[in-house]
Amino acid sequence: MKSVVATTYGGPEVLRVVDAPPPVAADNQVLVRVAASSINPLDWHELRGTPYVVRMMRGLRAPKPSGQAMGSDVAGVVESVGAGVTRLAVGDEVFGFGSGAWSELMVVGESGLVPKPAGVSKTDAGGVGVAAITALQGLRRGGLVAPLTWAPGEVEPMRPRVLIIGASGGVGTFAVQIAKLLGAHVTAVTSTRNLELVARLGADDVIDYTTTEVTRGIARFDLIFELAGNRRLRDLARILTPTGSLVACGAPKGEWLAPLVAPAKLAVASLFSRRTYASFLAKRDTADLQSLADWLASGALRVVVDEVYPADRIAEALAHGEAGHARGKVIVTL
Ligand SMILES: NC(=O)c1ccc[n+]([C@@H]2O[C@H](COP(=O)([O-])OP(=O)(O)OC[C@H]3O[C@@H](n4cnc5c(N)ncnc54)[C@H](OP(=O)(O)O)[C@@H]3O)[C@@H](O)[C@H]2O)c1
Repeated sequence: MKSVVATTYGGPEVLRVVDAPPPVAADNQVLVRVAASSINPLDWHELRGTPYVVRMMRGLRAPKPSGQAMGSDVAGVVESVGAGVTRLAVGDEVFGFGSGAWSELMVVGESGLVPKPAGVSKTDAGGVGVAAITALQGLRRGGLVAPLTWAPGEVEPMRPRVLIIGASGGVGTFAVQIAKLLGAHVTAVTSTRNLELVARLGADDVIDYTTTEVTRGIARFDLIFELAGNRRLRDLARILTPTGSLVACGAPKGEWLAPLVAPAKLAVASLFSRRTYASFLAKRDTADLQSLADWLASGALRVVVDEVYPADRIAEALAHGEAGHARGKVIVTL
């Protein structure tokens, strides 16, 4: 089978299409014929082996054979299942995420997949996995769990005020929609060309970061979901309510310690505050994937697709994603 691999660290030019032996699903795994995948920042961190801490896991000088297959998000069709798989069967259309998605076939633990809603194309479903799970789990980490409820005759409670910085990217476009589904008042920060997009996704207020710096304004937020990685903690803290939460997904760019210092600062700040300061890593969670599938099926959530690249242009797709200004998801079809 054809597989896109990186046998050395470097830019998109080091990607190679090789003929690899098809993987075999172990007991609790599913073999998927991949139709579509997408680009996530994780992909180019793994490709470049930066920050260097990535190499502790993937191989110091070059990616180990087990880390050479690239890509996480997947939408496709179940080709075979391991003996312990109970929820999925051959022929099911599925989506989710695992490792080695930029291949004709990949194996994924059953917990990393759910059935694809019939009304959602495989191309769109290939852009959901990591980004949408990150949006859902990140907002939840900041306390946004479910829409507020109130009894008839009671005054409607104040909606939590959520600020999403980096609202037009892969995670951000899902985060705006999910925050609205969870009952928040959403302020979205993006650049001029994306203001209309985030408003269409449901943002109540939009801020153009090229003309207005949100951290210098007077608005205060119960939850800041930070996806751009380029604002100082003390500036963000200034616009947080006294018991608010700052959840940082975006980390400052850097090859050595910079991306690790930001989470450490958040952890220390949290120790001495009534506020929550958190960085977090999205986790595979079947129930969360199913929530996303349900929202997609009902049309409450949609995938914003920036561009669709065929597999033979995957290097271009990666370069597009790495530039950091994608509008929604950059999709790759296999
Ligand atoms: N922890 C985890 O598990 C996890 C998982 C996924 C992603 N992440 C992290 O989350 C971040 C976002 O990921 P992504 O996939 O959404 O990236 P992305 O698709 O590249 O989007 C980045 C967005 O940031 C915006 N942006 C750039 N400069 C900005 C600024 N100064 N102020 C506000 N927005 C700005 C861009 O909008 P414009 O084009 O308008 O500039 C773009 O929409 C990345 O740092 C990634 O590493 C973490």
